[in-house]
Amino acid sequence: MTSDDVAVAVPGRVNLIGDHTDYTGGLALPIAIDRWTTITGTRSDRIQLRSDDEPVVALVPGDEPPSGWTRHVHAIATLLAERTGWVGLHGTITTTIPIGAGLSSSAALDIALALACGADMTPHELIALASAAERHATGVPTGLLDQTAIVHARDGHATVIDVASASIAHVPVPPDAEIVIRHVAQRTLAASGYTQRVRECAAIEQQIGPLATATLSQLDEIDDDVLRRRARHVITENARVRSAVDALAACDLVAFGALMVDSHRSLAEDYAVSTAAMDDAVASALATRGVLGARMTGGGFGGCIVMLVEPGSEVDGWRVRPVDGPC
Ligand code: GLA
Repeated sequence: MTSDDVAVAVPGRVNLIGDHTDYTGGLALPIAIDRWTTITGTRSDRIQLRSDDEPVVALVPGDEPPSGWTRHVHAIATLLAERTGWVGLHGTITTTIPIGAGLSSSAALDIALALACGADMTPHELIALASAAERHATGVPTGLLDQTAIVHARDGHATVIDVASASIAHVPVPPDAEIVIRHVAQRTLAASGYTQRVRECAAIEQQIGPLATATLSQLDEIDDDVLRRRARHVITENARVRSAVDALAACDLVAFGALMVDSHRSLAEDYAVSTAAMDDAVASALATRGVLGARMTGGGFGGCIVMLVEPGSEVDGWRVRPVDGPC
């Protein structure tokens, strides 16, 4: 390799518990998974990137496309040029992260692009840049979970993210905790109710203040039944993350699994971001011997379920392990 050669690999993530909490400054407990997006290439005076999975070539300078993976390339290039000056790259992208499955393939792409283009920034700045690019590329007001999960990931650990305070901690994942992901359905958050949920949370916070510090006793202050249920999900999900961190630290996988089940019920019934197919996948997982817990994971409206299983269980899906982030 010469000094102009570049090779970066950035993992996807799966959230073990704590969904739809990040955009109100709440808690989450993800791992990065052993599936990566890799970019190899050579520094250049413009960006020319091919993907193994898509026929389109990303060219910057060039017309910004209305959608698709090349839009992420334009977003990262524009933001990086504003901050650090222009950097180009001639290269190829490959990925083993299933695309559109809710495993943060696009956050991994954004971070890999930034690093491959020479972004020299703190983890905090990298998270801010990649999440701004994600919001620009998709038009969806997503939070910081995915980028934080990837950037701060540690091998063999789950990452405790407190978005409001930007604090990060790591908890070892016990060796007898097997994490299995089952893909249920392709989806895009742009075509989902995600933006509506963000708006609902903003309306709740206008009435009762920050959801990250709200308590169940404040639910009575919310007149609207739908908003009250949305708030109940966020408040109880933050509490579940705290309990899940304690359970993991104590290697109490039965307690952890029960919290996953409660989380799914809350996301399905109070937050209405599950689907019948995901509910069926969770129910069928829980009926399988050795499955300690199962829930939808990520933004929902399709995507994947994540399961906690005993070693040797015969459960269909992708077995994943917690890996390091790229930083
Ligand atoms: C998507 C978003 C994240 C987060 C999750 C739900 O993955 O990108 O910011 O809101 O959904 O927890």
